[in-house]
Amino acid sequence: MHDTLLLFGATGDLAQRYLFPSLLRLQGDGLLPENFRVRAMALSPHDTEKFRGIVRERLGKLSGYTPTPEQIESFLQRIDYRSVDMRTPASVADAVRDMVDRPCVSYLSIPPSLYITTCEGLALGGAFAAPNRLMLEKPIGHDLDSARQINQTIGRLIDEDRIFRIDHYLGKAAVQNLIALRFGNTLLEAVWNRDYIDSVHILVSESEGVDGRNSYYARSGALRDMVQSHILQLLCLVAMEPPASLASDRIRDEKVKVLRALRPFSAAEAKRHSVRGRYIAGTIDGEPVQAYAPPDDSDVETYVGVTAHIDNWRWAGVPFHLCTGKRMPERSTVVTVTLKPVTHWLFERPDSAHAAPNRLTFRLQPQEDIELGLMSSLAGPEWGTLELQPLELELSAQTGQNRRIAYERLLLDALNGNHALFVRDDEVEVAWAWIDSVVDAWRDADAPLHPYPAGSWGPENSAVFLPEQFDAVARPKQRGE
Ligand code: BG6
Repeated sequence: MHDTLLLFGATGDLAQRYLFPSLLRLQGDGLLPENFRVRAMALSPHDTEKFRGIVRERLGKLSGYTPTPEQIESFLQRIDYRSVDMRTPASVADAVRDMVDRPCVSYLSIPPSLYITTCEGLALGGAFAAPNRLMLEKPIGHDLDSARQINQTIGRLIDEDRIFRIDHYLGKAAVQNLIALRFGNTLLEAVWNRDYIDSVHILVSESEGVDGRNSYYARSGALRDMVQSHILQLLCLVAMEPPASLASDRIRDEKVKVLRALRPFSAAEAKRHSVRGRYIAGTIDGEPVQAYAPPDDSDVETYVGVTAHIDNWRWAGVPFHLCTGKRMPERSTVVTVTLKPVTHWLFERPDSAHAAPNRLTFRLQPQEDIELGLMSSLAGPEWGTLELQPLELELSAQTGQNRRIAYERLLLDALNGNHALFVRDDEVEVAWAWIDSVVDAWRDADAPLHPYPAGSWGPENSAVFLPEQFDAVARPKQRGE
C-alpha cells in the first residue's frame, strides 16, 4: 500500500469537505498505513501550522462523526503544507522532490486547466516514477478535444495503469450494488433486454444550488457537470453486458462498449428529446431561494432532461430518459426500469389501459432501497370479478460495512492500486464524444433555456424525463397515492 499523498488543491472545498474527513475516518478505522503522510499544497501562502489550524477547525465540526481531539491531533501530525504555483512546473517539482523516495499518490483536486502544468512539474520532480500513482478529479477537460489533450499529455508522463480518474459516484456502495444486483440474480438478467424492458429513467436531483461554485459552473452547466460523468456511469452499469470477470479492465471494456453505442444526438432530436432549464427564484422546504444568475455571457443550464438511445442488440428501441437538476424539491438518485405491459390482459378491473406495468426502482440516494411494482389480486368474496391492484414490494438493501463517504473507498483503492472503480482514458473520451453531440445539437437547434422555479421538478415540458412516481410539478408520489 502506498503511504504518501501529494494533495494539490488542499485548501479547496472538496479537500476540506470530503478528502480530509475521509482520511481521518480511515485512520480511525486503522486502515491507513502506519507511516501515512500528506503533503498538502495550494497557492495560499500558509505555513504548516496555519494550514493545520484550518483543517482542525473543519474536522471539529463534522456532522455524524465526532472524533476525539487526540484523534484529530494525531491525524494533523501526518500533514504538512507547501504553497505552490501550479501554473509553473518548477514550483510543483520543488514542492514534492523531498517526498518522492516514498511510494506516493498525487491527487489533483484542481481545475483541469492546471492539470498539464502540474503533471509536468510532478514528472520533473520525480513523482511519476514507478510505482507512484496519479489521481485526477473530474472533469477531465470540457469537451472531447480538451479531454484528449489532457489524456495524451499526461499519458506521455505516466502509464495509464498508474492513473486513477475519479467519478465519486463509483465509490458509493449503492452504485456498486447495481453490479451485484444485475449479475448476481438470474431473475433480473433474464428480463434485462429490449424484449421485456420498455424504458429506463435515471434521475439525479439535488436541492442544493450552484452556490459558491459560480466560476466553474458558469462554464460547465448540468450536462457537462453531471451527465458526462455520474449519469453516464449509472447508465453504463445499468446497460452494460455481463463482464467476463470483475477485473477492472473487463468491467471498463463493457462500459466503453455501451458509451460507443450511444446514438449521437442530432438537432432534430434536440427539439423533441431534450430540455434545458435554469432555476429561477422559488421555495424549498418553505425557505425562499434565489434564482441562479451566472455571469452575463454564460447561458449554462442547471437542469437537463435528455432521452438517449443505445444502438445495440440488447437495447434497440428502449429509451433511456436521463434527468438532473439543481434546486429541485429533494436530493434523490433513482434508477427506474419499467417493463413492457403484459402481452394478453385477462382482467376487467382495471382494464388493460389502466394496468400498471411492472416497475423496478433502485433508490440510491439519500437512502438505498429497491421497490418492485407488481399487479396483484384484491381477493375478496365481495368481488364478482377478479380485481387487480398495484402492489409495491419494498426490499431494503442492507449494505453492511460500507465506507460512509465515497472518497474513503476511492482513496483506499488508489493507495492499494485497485482500478475497478476508476474511469479509463477511452471511457472519458467516448463519454465526451456523446456529450459534444448534445452540445452541438443544442447549438444547431438553438435550444432554448426554460425557466423552472426552485423547488419544482424542472421546466413545464419535462415530465417525460422523470420516473413515473415523480410528479412533474410537485413532489414524488407516495406509495398508494
Ligand atoms: C459533483 C458535481 O461531481 O457531484 C456537483 O460537480 C454535484 O455539482 C455533486 O453537486 C453531487 O454529488 P453527491 O454525491 O452529493 O450526489
